[in-house]
Amino acid sequence: MFKSLFLFGSLVFSYAASASCDLSISANDAMQFSSKSLEVDKSCKSVKLTLTHTGQLPINIMGHNWVLSASADVKDVAIAGMQAGVDNSYVPTNDPRVLAVTNVVGGGESTTIEFSIEQLSAEQSYKFFCSFPGHFAVMQGDFKLI
Ligand code: CU
Repeated sequence: MFKSLFLFGSLVFSYAASASCDLSISANDAMQFSSKSLEVDKSCKSVKLTLTHTGQLPINIMGHNWVLSASADVKDVAIAGMQAGVDNSYVPTNDPRVLAVTNVVGGGESTTIEFSIEQLSAEQSYKFFCSFPGHFAVMQGDFKLI
């Protein structure tokens, strides 16, 4: 009986998680995101994402942001972001390859954005990453519409 209750509970949980249009992810002082993959329901018109920096290092040493682009564009957008510099939150300005971006946060801070996914396709491959200089190679993950 306990086993079936547990199973029921996890089914409810996974349904709730997959149907959500709200996402949250954290990043730490060890240059890691808390998740390697994020999923949203393709019926979501917009997605609300909260990035929390759970570390303590200051923004100029271990700043993190959350950038969304097509998988094929990650490297080029990250390099262009590095060149755009701190004044532009390490993201190229007015660049259509940038599908969503948060502010850069330092230890103990968090930031929330809401962005439309209506122009995104479930057939296309997307990734999220941090564009703080030197971070994108390890701080990235898959973004899926399911
Ligand atoms: Cu980072």
